[in-house]
Amino acid sequence: MSTSPNQLETQLQQLQREAVEAIAATSTLEELESIRVSYLGKKGQLSQILRGMGKLSPQERPRIGALANEVKETLQVNLDNRHQALQQARIEEQLQAETLDVTMPGVSRPLGHIHPINSIIDRILEIFVGLGYTVATGPHIETDYYNFEALNTPVDHPARDMQDTFYLPEGSLLRTHTSSVQIRYMETHQPPVRIVAPGRCYRRDTVDATHSATFHQIEILAVDKGLRFTDLKGTIKEFIRQMFGEELPILFRASYFPFTEPSAEVDVQWKGKWLEVLGCGMVDPNVLKAVGYDPEIYTGFAAGLGVERFAMVLHEIDDIRRLYNSDLRFLKQF
Ligand code: DAH
Repeated sequence: MSTSPNQLETQLQQLQREAVEAIAATSTLEELESIRVSYLGKKGQLSQILRGMGKLSPQERPRIGALANEVKETLQVNLDNRHQALQQARIEEQLQAETLDVTMPGVSRPLGHIHPINSIIDRILEIFVGLGYTVATGPHIETDYYNFEALNTPVDHPARDMQDTFYLPEGSLLRTHTSSVQIRYMETHQPPVRIVAPGRCYRRDTVDATHSATFHQIEILAVDKGLRFTDLKGTIKEFIRQMFGEELPILFRASYFPFTEPSAEVDVQWKGKWLEVLGCGMVDPNVLKAVGYDPEIYTGFAAGLGVERFAMVLHEIDDIRRLYNSDLRFLKQF
């Protein structure tokens, strides 16, 4: 049975109408693809209609052929437009689904923080570094020489009684103060010297609310030509001002340390009370001699302070042991 040109024409027009509708009705890219295959695919509806063209007369063939091409192009344009629209919709959907609300509060993780002892050390170091000092450290296990002898404290010196010492085998000991760092630093550096030396110290003290067998000190040492007691005073005053955040009444009380002459203890009036905050003095010429500095050319001043004492005063802590027993309920306050 032959197909007439008019029938073919009608079929083509109908196919176009149906296909355009079907394309418009698609809601996914997959659906659109299956529509494309069913109309324009190799075995699709258009090919099937065109198979009938073979039977057309040579006069009719060009007209129907042109019409078929038109239909094909129209469908292709419709398919392309729909494809673009569906793809755009998909992207928008995806964007919507994956939107990140950057204003949402984050999930906070538990984070450790600095122990009050270390934060006091950091504050003090920062003040002295601001004044031009360099941070220095030394070993905890020391020899008698660095801890006592070079600091003008010979074996029979009565001042050794002030510091009960943990002695280790073979003549070493646990340093009783950070003053040992003075000697170690000066031995390896030439003046001018300006150091601040923090660290742990050890003494055979019976533990109670104000004593601990291990504690922290910060040592300050300056050696230069022409340093005088007024330089020491000015330095301490500035340190106290920065540490307490205000100008406070300060008292330099005459005292004794083997490694300084003259020596003083410094009291500060804070919240109506006088607090003893540090020991200090002009470096004893014997100490300078011990490290090979000429005391006729150089003078120096030194100071030593207890970190725990500052922590306890500034944070109003009543028992030194709280700083060591790792009770989180206590530590979380800082
Ligand atoms: N080393 C002393 C102590 O542990 C503290 C001290 C006092 C250090 C006077 C100094 C100083 O540098 O000049 O008690």
